[in-house]
Amino acid sequence: MTTIRVRRPPQLVGHVELPGDKSISHRALILNAIAEGTATVRNLSGGADVVSTAACLRALGVEIEGDEVRGVGLDGLRAAADPLDCGNSGTTMRLLAGLLAPQPFESRLTGDESLRGRPMDRVVEPLRRMGAAADAPPLVVGGRRPLRGIAYRMPVASAQVKSAVLLAGLYASGRTAVIEPAPTRNHTELMLAAMGAPIGVQGIAITIDRAERLKPIDVDVPGDLSAAAFWLVAGALHPHADLTLEAVGVNPTRTALLRVLEESLGARVEVRNRRLAGPEPVADLAVATGTRGGPLKTGRALAAQLIDELPVLAVAAALLPGEHEIRGAGELRVKESDRIGALAAGLAAMGADVEELSDGLRIRGPRPLEGARVESRGDHRIAMAFAVAGMLADGVTEIADAGSAAVSDPGFWEQAARFGAVK
Ligand code: S3P
Repeated sequence: MTTIRVRRPPQLVGHVELPGDKSISHRALILNAIAEGTATVRNLSGGADVVSTAACLRALGVEIEGDEVRGVGLDGLRAAADPLDCGNSGTTMRLLAGLLAPQPFESRLTGDESLRGRPMDRVVEPLRRMGAAADAPPLVVGGRRPLRGIAYRMPVASAQVKSAVLLAGLYASGRTAVIEPAPTRNHTELMLAAMGAPIGVQGIAITIDRAERLKPIDVDVPGDLSAAAFWLVAGALHPHADLTLEAVGVNPTRTALLRVLEESLGARVEVRNRRLAGPEPVADLAVATGTRGGPLKTGRALAAQLIDELPVLAVAAALLPGEHEIRGAGELRVKESDRIGALAAGLAAMGADVEELSDGLRIRGPRPLEGARVESRGDHRIAMAFAVAGMLADGVTEIADAGSAAVSDPGFWEQAARFGAVK
């Protein structure tokens, strides 16, 4: 377990290197794996989660070499010899559950201790309704066909569950419909449409019909906005900052963070040179020192769209004036760690006025943060949120198990070191 010591660098000025978007990377691999032909995927995330997806697909008979994914077609996957190891990655496990449930063979999916403890009934339940064999824990799917289309009203707002049902729907007879309680990231829908799948979107209702084939799609993976979030908050709150981030994904289902930073917190974030990378919008971002304060208030609908950015927004809230409330975010309790508990403990250790709620946090700011020893609980986004807290705090912050950042951003600590933030 690596402990990393972070301090406030004299300035945060320059260019931030981002990994490829994690959500789009998983989908570029999984969907091209079942396409008919070869696709080139550039700027794939090098994070451990996407490495897990690639390893699982290889075990299912898909060749992935360098930038190339050689699709085996919808019916070309073969049973893996061993249980599929999804590592720390919920996206890998849930999306593969949807892909593998309709296959003629059975698959077992496993992962690290954190992932094995996360809720999988949310994918098992709709897959069973479609007629698939599915059970958890441990997660076992597939081997019983055919599947039939269902209309599924999702009880939780989850892009992973939505994607799992859509993947199974590619193989099911008739039409499958998914209705979301609140809009979530739509990368699966955009990519499936670009690959010629019979998909339709009417607001929060998505339909898919059984597909004959998928066309491979070359993907230029945008920079990861959820990885950018750490630097956008650090840049807005550091006393001497001017950062630029290029070719970042700005899909509107992901940009609630930018709206909160600009509108609620008055941060100086500029979005320049908007363009398309295939079906996904990208832009260059810039952030410089300066905020107006708060308060930050997020309810259920916004929480679903900010779910991965809430840890670093909680750090911002501690430093900004106002009584801030993150509510409707109970999903944070079942992420890679209980993120509500992890944030409350670490921020309190650093001197924040923070109250743990069942579905979020109440934070009264501003309070100067003081370096302390904090626990990442092996959770990448908690490690990086505390790194940002350390870059904005007095003294030295010691982050236990900081190496977990590599789950989504393997270059994070090098980037922090280049700015002089690592002691
Ligand atoms: C993801 C969806 C979100 C998010 C995760 C990535 C995806 O999870 O937290 O980091 O790529 O679909 P849920 O959809 O389960 O909320």
